[in-house]
Amino acid sequence: MSELSDRPAKAVVGESIPHEAAIGHVTGAALYTDDLVGRTHGVLHAYPVSAPHAHALVTRLDTAPAYDVSGVVRVLTADDVPGVNDSNINHDEPLFPTEVMFYGHPVCWVLGASLEAARLGAEAVQIDYEELPSIVTIPEAIAAGSFQGRAPTVSRGDVEAGMSAATHVFSGTWEASGQEQFYLETQASIAYVDEAGQVFIHSSTQNPSETQEIAAHVLGVTSSEVTVQCLRMGGGFGGKETQANGYAAIAALGATLTGRPVRVRLNRNQDIQFTGKRPDFLSTWEAGFDDEGHLLALKVVFTADGGWSLDLMQPVLSRALCHVDNAYWIPNIEAHGRIAKTNRTSHTAFRGFGGPQGMLVTENILGTVAPKLGLTGEEIRRRNFYRSADQTTPYGQRVRQIERLHQIWDEVLTESDFAGRQREIEQFNATHEHTKRAIAATPVKFGISFNKSSMNQGGALVLVYKDGSVLVNHGGTEMGQGLHTKMLQVAATALGLPLSRVRLAPTRTDKVPNTSATSASTGADLNGGAVKHACDQIRDRLAVVAGGILGVPPADVRFADAAAYGLNSEREPIPWEELVRTAYLQRIQLHAAGYYRTEGLEWNEETYQGSPFKYFSYGAAVAEVEVDGFTGAYRTRRVDVVHDVGDSLSPLIDIGQIEGAFVQGAGWLTLEDQRWDAGEGPTRGRFSTQGASTYKLPSFSEMPEVFNVTMFQNATEEGAIYGSKAVGEPPLMLPFSVREALRKAANAFGPAGTSVHLASPATPEAVYWAIEDARAKSTDSVAAQEVPATIPQRVPSGV
Ligand code: MTE
Ligand code: MOS
Repeated sequence: MSELSDRPAKAVVGESIPHEAAIGHVTGAALYTDDLVGRTHGVLHAYPVSAPHAHALVTRLDTAPAYDVSGVVRVLTADDVPGVNDSNINHDEPLFPTEVMFYGHPVCWVLGASLEAARLGAEAVQIDYEELPSIVTIPEAIAAGSFQGRAPTVSRGDVEAGMSAATHVFSGTWEASGQEQFYLETQASIAYVDEAGQVFIHSSTQNPSETQEIAAHVLGVTSSEVTVQCLRMGGGFGGKETQANGYAAIAALGATLTGRPVRVRLNRNQDIQFTGKRPDFLSTWEAGFDDEGHLLALKVVFTADGGWSLDLMQPVLSRALCHVDNAYWIPNIEAHGRIAKTNRTSHTAFRGFGGPQGMLVTENILGTVAPKLGLTGEEIRRRNFYRSADQTTPYGQRVRQIERLHQIWDEVLTESDFAGRQREIEQFNATHEHTKRAIAATPVKFGISFNKSSMNQGGALVLVYKDGSVLVNHGGTEMGQGLHTKMLQVAATALGLPLSRVRLAPTRTDKVPNTSATSASTGADLNGGAVKHACDQIRDRLAVVAGGILGVPPADVRFADAAAYGLNSEREPIPWEELVRTAYLQRIQLHAAGYYRTEGLEWNEETYQGSPFKYFSYGAAVAEVEVDGFTGAYRTRRVDVVHDVGDSLSPLIDIGQIEGAFVQGAGWLTLEDQRWDAGEGPTRGRFSTQGASTYKLPSFSEMPEVFNVTMFQNATEEGAIYGSKAVGEPPLMLPFSVREALRKAANAFGPAGTSVHLASPATPEAVYWAIEDARAKSTDSVAAQEVPATIPQRVPSGV
C-alpha cells in the first residue's frame, strides 16, 4: 500500500458525517457571493444590454440616453477596457463584442445605484445592428462547413477489416440533446478596489485562478494585483468552470472605473440565455457484430455543437472520444470528433464533459442491436465487457481493475433480483395490453484525471496556530459536492485530531495560487493529496519535538486522539495543544504549503494515445420502469446501484453524490428538453426553454420509487488519497439503465424481437413515438425490421 492511500487507525476519513455546511444550507445562514451585497456599502448593480439577434454587427452604439436615467452611474463599453477586451483563455470571446454571436449576447453593461436603475439604463441604450446570416443547428453548421478547433481521431485496429468480418452491420445517425446546468445560484460576482488599486473579486466560480487571470488581463494588470475568492457555489456542475470569468471581469472593470463595489448577478433567464450548456451531439455510426453479438468494429463521427466560441469544447470532445468504449472491448475502432461553430451560447462543461455523450452512442447501439441478434441488452453488454487488465482502451491505456466491473455487475444483478423480476415483468406484460414494464442494466467505466496531464496538480496551505487550532486552505472550490467536508476529514486524519479541531477557510487565490478548476471529479484527489502533504510536513516537524519529550525516535511518534505518543514508550501521550505550544517556543514552523501532482500520467494530444487517467471508476445500475401506452408517460419503479468510490472518504457525501448524479443524468436522458428557435422569424436562435416553467428538471416526483445505492466494498485505490476514488461525475452515466428500460418497455408494445429507435431525451413524447413505432412492427413483415439507415432527427421547434 502506498503512503498516500494508507489509512491510519482511527481515521476520520471514512466516517459518515453530514456536509460541513448542511445546517447553513437548510437554514439559509450559509453565505453565497450575492449575499454579500446586503453587507456591502455603496454597491453598484450591473445590467446587460442584450442583443436581439443570433448574428449581427453593431453599427451604432449610443450610451448617452442611459445617463438620463436617474441612478445610472456608468455604462461600460469596449472603450473602457484598459487591458484586453477578451474573456476567455482561447482569446476568442470579446467581453464587449462588436459582432453579436448569439441571441441575447450582452453588448455592453450599465451600472446603476439600484438594479432597477441599471435595468432602465440598459433599456435606454441605443444600438443599431446589421443582421447577418446565422447558423443555429448542427446540420446547418455541417452544410456550411462551420467548424472550430481541432478535429481529433482515436483509432485502433482496422475498422474496414472488422466490418468485413462482421456478419451483421448496422448504422444510424441521431442527435442527442444537450443539457442546461441549472445550478440554483446563477452566475454572480462582486468586486472591490482598495486604495492601492488592488482588486478583490468574490466570484461564484469553479476556477478562481482562471477568473483571476481573465480579470487581470481585462484590467491590464498582473495576477498579483487581483485576488479572487469563492465562498461556495450553489451548484456549478461544470457551468462555472469558465463561464463565471466574464462576469467577474465586468464587476472588476466597473469597480476600478467607479471606485465603488460592483455586483453582477444574472437572473435566471439571462443565465440560461447567456451561458453555455452541455453540447448537443450529432453522431453518425456504423457497427459490425459477429453472430454471438461481439462488437468487432465501430466507426463513429461525433459533431458536437460548440456554439459561438471554443470554450471547453476540446476537452469535452476528448472525453467523448476517450469514453465511447465505455466498458467494452472494441478491437477495431475509429472515432472522429469535430466541433461545430454555431450562433448559440458557447457550450461548455457539464458533469462528465463529453463522456456521457460518447458513451450514449455505444449504449444506444447495444440497446438497439441486442433484440436483432436475439440477445438481451444485458447479455450483449456482458459479452462485450473488457475481460482482462491486459486489454487496452482505444487510446492505449490498460483497463486496470476491470475485474471490479465484473464483480459490480454480478452484484447489482443479484442484489436487484434481476432474473426474478424479469420473469414477473414478463407475466405483467402478458396481461397488460396498454401498460408495459421493463428492467435493464448498464455499466459505467469512467477515467479519472484531466486528460491534459499538466492540469493534474493541486495546492494547500495549512496553518496551525499557537493555541493548537488548525485552519485549512486548499485550492478546490465547494459547490455542494462536499469537497470541504472531505478536506476537513483528510486534515483531521493526517494530524490525528478530531474533526472539531479543524476549520476550513473559503477558497482564495492569495492563499493557494495556480490552481486548476475544481472539475473532472478530481477535487478530492488533487486537493486531498495537497492537504495531506501540508499536514505531513507539520506532523513530521512536531514528531521531532515530541520524540525528544517521549524519548523515542521521531519515526516512532504517532498522532491520534489529539495527542502524540511514542511506540513502546512508557511516557504519557503529549496533548496536541501542549505539543504545539512547545514547538512554537522551540521556533518550529507551524504552517506548511502542500502540493500534489498525479504521477504516472501520459497523454499525447497529437496522436490521442497514452494513459491519461490515474484510474477508472466503475459502476452499474439496474432500473425498472412502467410505461403507459396511451401517453408515453412513465415511472421509474426501482433503481439499484453498485458504484466504486474506492474506500470512501466520506460515505454520506458519496451516497449523496451518486444519488444526485443519477437523478441529474436521468434528467438529461429523459426529461430536459432544450428547444432553440431554428425558425426564420425575428427570434431565430433564441433559447426558448428559458426557465423552470418550460424546461423540466427532475424533482421529487421523478425520483425512483425505490432507490438502493450501495458502494462497492473493500475497494482501496492504491494511487489516491486514503484509498478513495473520485465520485462527482461517473454516476451521472448510471441512468443509461433508465433509458434502456424505457426502450425495452416500448419494444414490448411490438412483437418479440422488436427494436425501436428512442430519441434522447426520452421524454414521454419520445417514448410515445417509440411505442407507435413498436406497434407498427406488428403489422410489418419481419424483414422490414432493420435499423433505418438514417434515423429522423429531433425537429428543432420554434415553440
Ligand atoms: N455536486 C453538487 N452538489 N453540486 C455541483 O455543482 N458538480 C459536479 C460534481 N458534483 C457538482 C456536484 C461536477 S461537474 C464535478 S466535476 C464534481 O462535483 C466536482 O467536484 P469534485 O472534483 O470535488 O468531485
Ligand atoms: Mo465538472 S463538468 O468537471 O465541473
